[in-house]
Amino acid sequence: MRIIASANQKGGCGKTTTAINLSSSLSMKGQRVMIIDFDPQAHATMGLNIKPSELEKNIYDVITPKGNQDVGIEDIIIPIKDNLDLAPAGLILSVVEQELSGIEGREDRLFNAIRAIKQQYDYVIIDCPPSIGHLCFNALRASDEVIIPIDMSLFSLRGVSKLTELIILLNEKTGHESRARALITMYDARTRYSRVVLDKVRKEFGNNVFETVIRYNIRLRETVDYGLPVGDYDKNSLGHKDYENLADEILRSDAAVMYQDLNTLSLAQDLLQRTEGYMDAATKSELIGQHVCETEEDFYLSEPKSTFSEMVEAMATDSSNPSPDYNYDEM
Ligand SMILES: Nc1ncnc2c1ncn2[C@@H]1O[C@H](COP(=O)(O)OP(=O)(O)O)[C@@H](O)[C@H]1O
Ligand SMILES: [Mg+2]
Repeated sequence: MRIIASANQKGGCGKTTTAINLSSSLSMKGQRVMIIDFDPQAHATMGLNIKPSELEKNIYDVITPKGNQDVGIEDIIIPIKDNLDLAPAGLILSVVEQELSGIEGREDRLFNAIRAIKQQYDYVIIDCPPSIGHLCFNALRASDEVIIPIDMSLFSLRGVSKLTELIILLNEKTGHESRARALITMYDARTRYSRVVLDKVRKEFGNNVFETVIRYNIRLRETVDYGLPVGDYDKNSLGHKDYENLADEILRSDAAVMYQDLNTLSLAQDLLQRTEGYMDAATKSELIGQHVCETEEDFYLSEPKSTFSEMVEAMATDSSNPSPDYNYDEM
């Protein structure tokens, strides 16, 4: 069984679209697939036409350290179609960030839950939330591979470096190694900007970026409203073809073989360095010139306030700070 997380702290870069459509494409190729929705926003659940509010249980009940300890993933599974099952999410999942703080073995909860269903699936695809906290940490801990969708934006690239940092931290803390590869999404070959960034990303990331590029395709957007993977909505769409290609690329690359001779940790460190270097060089000169930001000042001013260092510190020192990404008072 291969466990793959779709992760990037930036929202809207294609994590959920990738999780849904990669899962569906793999299932159509005869692989037994489980998609785990690990985002309290439950977009993967809704994107597969399941209403979170109508469910009695979801992945929260499996992960929470509170209450009934006996709920396993098998108790919440919803069959979607041949070879594809869903472990749904719901808003309540956001509470886990708080509940897991200071709990022994808090980063192993999803890992342990997945172990119980190892025999039943060839692939488990985890759709991560757009935040760095215990949920993301659990997803990375549970996975062998990480797909980092990047939508050609600066913040997406920043997500790559932050996530890579987290993978390195995870390795230091638990000895677990997951291998990360970037996936270019929403690619628009008509714009010079897209082509320039694609060239750069390929040059800088080398083998750490998928050959497959997911093009911008309006069908991918429409299908979410219909609650269907794109392949079940329009088989001839570019979106379906691209995710078929991604599934083929993943099927071809047996993770164990591919990374056999590589020290994945140094690979992650290398990726991190390259991304930071790329950010420094590219953002200031080219991207400003491309009117992504008018001036360098704009670029720095427009950065989202990073909570990452606090979070890393919290996780590393067993502090009881919940993720600041959610506002508990509003729930
Ligand atoms: N290749 C694509 N072409 C066009 N729209 C896309 C593509 N990938 C994702 N989208 C749309 O972009 C939005 C954000 O994608 P989503 O997968 O939900 O991102 P995330 O899970 O990272 O927040 C959604 O409306 C989705 O339908
Ligand atoms: Mg999402």
